[in-house]
Amino acid sequence: MALVQLAEVSKVYRSLQGSDYVAVRDFSLDIEAGEFFCLLGTSGCGKTTVLNMVAGFEPVSTGAIRINGHPIAGPAADRGVVFQGDDSLYGWLSALGNVEFGLRMRGVPRTEREEKAHHYLELVGLKGQDHKHPSELSGGMKQRIQIARVLANEPQMLLMDEPFAALDAHTRADMQRELKRICSATKKTVLFITHDIDEAIILADRIGVMHAGPASKLKGIVAVTLSEAERERTHDRFLEVYRQVHEMIRDEVAISLGRNRDEVANSRMRAH
Ligand SMILES: Nc1ncnc2c1ncn2[C@@H]1O[C@H](COP(=O)(O)OP(=O)(O)OP(=O)(O)O)[C@@H](O)[C@H]1O
Ligand SMILES: [Mg+2]
Repeated sequence: MALVQLAEVSKVYRSLQGSDYVAVRDFSLDIEAGEFFCLLGTSGCGKTTVLNMVAGFEPVSTGAIRINGHPIAGPAADRGVVFQGDDSLYGWLSALGNVEFGLRMRGVPRTEREEKAHHYLELVGLKGQDHKHPSELSGGMKQRIQIARVLANEPQMLLMDEPFAALDAHTRADMQRELKRICSATKKTVLFITHDIDEAIILADRIGVMHAGPASKLKGIVAVTLSEAERERTHDRFLEVYRQVHEMIRDEVAISLGRNRDEVANSRMRAH
């Protein structure tokens, strides 16, 4: 049995104007234990919506999500979440304080939790920055502390919503490598959202491409069976997978741009 099962899941949002918006419809996906699954799609297609439902932050409208065969009943410690554009660090705590916060809440003794927090801060390249507070850190550093904080809680699953989007290219490449290493070493199951096809190919066991919204679901899944050596942007086999994914997503980008243009035109007409 797959660790995570999404069965014909739909999500309807009620807009502030009172009308319904079907963000996701009949979305089905199984993620195996230990699998690194990347979800790719155009802006606004419903990626964050899917992740929020798996995290337990948003209830499904219809369908079901099961983890280990059990319906999810809200957020839980088995799923660590890194949010999109996250700025949820505690301003009154240092970097170290933020990373060890979850462990402190669980009653882990001080020496052990400080050791772990140091370890994960070092892993995300922030050794020596333990004492700094969020206001003294750059956006990219804050994002890395968030990742360290989630890893320090050692959840079974990582749910990551474009976690590296704010990082410079070098740090991003380092973090991709580290994340991949940590996830295979600790056999974590990962649902990772990205816009970046390259990033998805470097990281994923499988890549799921979503349709443009509304009422989006998976358009297709590409299995990435590349060796580590082949996960180089210039490798022929890498380019082969790139072409496959790009072809799948290209039409959705055009559809999404077209719909946005229609929406702008319609709202202009309504305004006149
Ligand atoms: N709380 C909400 N209330 C109403 N509509 C929402 C809400 N959250 C998201 N939506 C709508 O649902 C659709 C999907 O949004 P979502 O945030 O899941 O997209 P996304 O694929 O993560 O986009 P991006 O790549 O830009 O982050 C969008 O049209 C959005 O406007
Ligand atoms: Mg999003």
